[in-house]
Amino acid sequence: MFQTAPIEAASQSELTSQMAARLHTALTTHLQQAYAPDQRKNLRLFSATETADLLGVTGQFLRKCHSDGSLPEPEVIKNGRRFYSGDEILQARHFLEASSRKPGKYLPGRREGDKLQVIQLMNFKGGSAKSTSAIHLCHYLALSGYRVLAIDLDPQGSLTGFCGIQTELEFEGASIYDALRYDDPVPMSEAVVETYFPGLHLAPARLVLSEFETETAVNAGRGVAFFEKLSLAIQSVESDYDVVVIDSPPALGFLTLTGLYAATSVIVPMTPSMLDLASTQQFVEMTSAYLGVIEDTGVKLDHDFFSFLITRDDPSDIPSQQIVSLMRALFQDRVVGATGLRSTAIGDASMLKMSIYEVARSEMTRSTYDRAKNSMDAVGSEIAGMLQKAWGR
Ligand SMILES: Nc1ncnc2c1ncn2[C@@H]1O[C@H](COP(=O)(O)OP(=O)(O)O)[C@@H](O)[C@H]1O
Ligand SMILES: [Mg+2]
Repeated sequence: MFQTAPIEAASQSELTSQMAARLHTALTTHLQQAYAPDQRKNLRLFSATETADLLGVTGQFLRKCHSDGSLPEPEVIKNGRRFYSGDEILQARHFLEASSRKPGKYLPGRREGDKLQVIQLMNFKGGSAKSTSAIHLCHYLALSGYRVLAIDLDPQGSLTGFCGIQTELEFEGASIYDALRYDDPVPMSEAVVETYFPGLHLAPARLVLSEFETETAVNAGRGVAFFEKLSLAIQSVESDYDVVVIDSPPALGFLTLTGLYAATSVIVPMTPSMLDLASTQQFVEMTSAYLGVIEDTGVKLDHDFFSFLITRDDPSDIPSQQIVSLMRALFQDRVVGATGLRSTAIGDASMLKMSIYEVARSEMTRSTYDRAKNSMDAVGSEIAGMLQKAWGR
């Protein structure tokens, strides 16, 4: 049971320490209930219709592939209906790609000579849906057959939590901090873990990552430039991935900047409100100043795309739509055409640290689920198109 009695504390540090302990208990209990019995997340199974949709084939074609033996049957068949695991869908992609006339139809990732794509989501406004957009993009791309590495640059570890590592519960293993730290860093390959989501790996974050800010200030001018650190770490594992998705802290500090240097593309998620517009203006202005400092060292930064993404969009809210229109007028195709719709389905899923892709349609009101999923699909598909364009396709 939770302690609910008023807190008696002799000092402010004791007061806050007790508050932290209570929150810790509440969180641990919540997580244990959500992920009982072993507290690990698992990916649900996908129906045959969903699987055919994901693969871009018809249900009839999928059945034919099973009957002619070109595709192994999924393990789970209930009442004659097939259900596919994420791994089975990925295997199907490999089978289908091998016999496809159009290369990249089922495995759309990098080909010989294509550079790794590194997308950073950043905005110093907390709550602009950076982490929510990041996990949906990761899941969309992984389900589409890309090999994805998620890097959590936020010490608060939201993306890490979405990927099934509960920083509140587990403290073992290396994290991105260990690959970036100044004393005795570990190779990036040791900071990366597989997740329960096929096709998605993660460099997790812990609270200690915030030390990077102070350590960078202390170590200024020694060794490699701080902004090169993440880029070098990524280079050491680059052949394993098609796309890297970086989530950033709600601050424009050294962590965000090392991400910005590593990034080949930038997405600035933004909620369409007047306050967010003003804060985004300040953010972009500060970004320009910091990029100038990096460029003054003789580095040429080149991003394939640098675009805004409207998040928590509510088409029925007129004032917010005026801001969306203003953004589109000012920046045209630098605003992603699709928007992340505000939806209780997304909010509810995130309470369980899930993306909409992890929730089965039958668990929600269908229309609410479809609206949320269609919107996340539209954003994901447009960004995938931008990646393909960057690869010259
Ligand atoms: N499309 C959406 N619909 C409803 N709620 C959303 C949506 N996107 C984000 N949220 C909610 O907004 C809050 C902030 O999102 P988050 O991704 O954590 O922002 P950030 O990482 O920028 O701080 C979270 O509670 C999240 O569940
Ligand atoms: Mg976040």
